[in-house]
Amino acid sequence: MKITKICCIGAGYVGGPTMAVIAQKCPDIKVTVVDLNEARIAAWNDKDTNNIPIYEPGLAEVVAEARGRNLFFSTEVEKAIDEAEMIFISVNTPTKTYGSGKGMAADLKYIELCARQIARVSKSNKIVVEKSTLPVRTAEAIKNILDNTGNGVRFQILSNPEFLAEGTAVQDLLNPDRILIGGDTTEEGQNAINALVDVYANWVAKERILTTNLWSSELSKLTANAFLAQRVSSINALSELCEKTGADVSEVAKAIGMDSRIGPKFLKASVGFGGSCFQKDILNLVYIAKAYGLNEVADYWEQVIIMNDHQKRRFSHKIVTTLYNTVSGKKIAFLGWAFKKDTNDTRESAAIYVADDLINEQAELYVFDPKVAEGQILSDLNYLDSRTAEENKKQVTVAASPYEACKDAHAIAVLTEWDEFRDYDWKKIYDNMMKPAFVFDGRNILDAKQLTEMGFIYKGIGS
Ligand code: NAD
Ligand code: UGA
Repeated sequence: MKITKICCIGAGYVGGPTMAVIAQKCPDIKVTVVDLNEARIAAWNDKDTNNIPIYEPGLAEVVAEARGRNLFFSTEVEKAIDEAEMIFISVNTPTKTYGSGKGMAADLKYIELCARQIARVSKSNKIVVEKSTLPVRTAEAIKNILDNTGNGVRFQILSNPEFLAEGTAVQDLLNPDRILIGGDTTEEGQNAINALVDVYANWVAKERILTTNLWSSELSKLTANAFLAQRVSSINALSELCEKTGADVSEVAKAIGMDSRIGPKFLKASVGFGGSCFQKDILNLVYIAKAYGLNEVADYWEQVIIMNDHQKRRFSHKIVTTLYNTVSGKKIAFLGWAFKKDTNDTRESAAIYVADDLINEQAELYVFDPKVAEGQILSDLNYLDSRTAEENKKQVTVAASPYEACKDAHAIAVLTEWDEFRDYDWKKIYDNMMKPAFVFDGRNILDAKQLTEMGFIYKGIGS
């Protein structure tokens, strides 16, 4: 079966970029991305593609090329479902905040709503693709809903998890390490798999397109994120030991990373990993393991989160103890708020938790991030519900420039590894700060030697 019309439900960080690249690479396929969020769709349709709702290097150009040709953004969900032969579900699957599994399990209500809507609207056979990250065996629930419509429409369900990382989404989509497609082992299932393989084969080499059964595909996504996060927690755990022993975590990371069995990537010690997925997906894995009574498996993976929480808290604690055990009334400048560089996404960013700790200590925070707006920063803090919105606003000022943020500050904390931070006029920053002038580099990106020579007291992670 040759696919000519695709619909994607969910125009977020995954749905938007993924579909833009499919549309760019498959000009013969009409791709419609739908969302309930009218403002988001309006932003995707903004005349100036620099105003699309997600900042990703290279994305505006891809959207400019395909939008209006074979890429469309719309709020008409039912129409797009009805038209399409293949429907991607790319809605959010956050951690549950209520009921059983609260704080651990994935909340599948948005997925279920999509399945029910597809069941209700469809008049012709369709392939439904799980793009969202889902607990293993979710396809079974989706299948139950779709197979009980009684209208004779037949559905095939595929799992096609997304491995893109934010900040490099376009590059990751154009040159993926692999594409994973899981489906039923029946003939119909294999045909559906092949239909999706053919879409990706427009730009991805066949050897990189891996097909498996549904459950392997669903579980591989959670496993990949768990392994990646585990590497960060592992190196962060060692960073604390480095600080006690005189070892330097960057040197240790380099030394172990040259072992081809370990590999050099994802070994940067930091203030802690953030992002919408690592924590959510590991909690989900822990929950699933517990649900099967596999307590040792659950405890093993939970440690990755425990270590990450410790790393964030350790960073704020170090700021307080270094500043003579009090930051009350002291100005502390934050460079960076996003959870990593080259994205405006702040979900679960370590900066939020470090800020919360320091506000508890009555610090006055001045934040500068090249891509994150004031409203987002305050709403991230308000979401924690640690204090009133008025109190957060009183303690946090969002600065228009790094120099403004750092002026008269007692200390600077680097929370995101934006490249531009390296190139600032650090002499000017030093001259305008309170003395002694402290820098807490939560990303080890600044030149420690140069800053120390200027007069800064520099504290990195793991050295
Ligand atoms: P997101 O919150 O940015 O986008 C989800 C969108 O779905 C929202 O705009 C929301 O309005 C829309 N939506 C929800 N229910 C809907 C419905 N019934 N009909 C229409 N629209 C609906 O989320 P995201 O970051 O794109 O993540 C989506 C999924 O992809 C998650 O499962 C996530 O775990 C997974 N994932 C995310 C990343 C990432 O880098 N963000 C990477 C890989 C996988
Ligand atoms: C991660 C995975 O890398 C993607 O493959 C996956 O698709 C995605 O999650 C997802 O499922 O959402 P992402 O969270 O966008 O992607 O970004 P990463 O580059 O993985 O970084 C995650 C966090 O770990 C960031 O806060 C980053 O600063 C931190 N990190 C990463 C470190 O502290 N050290 C490292 O060496 C690497």
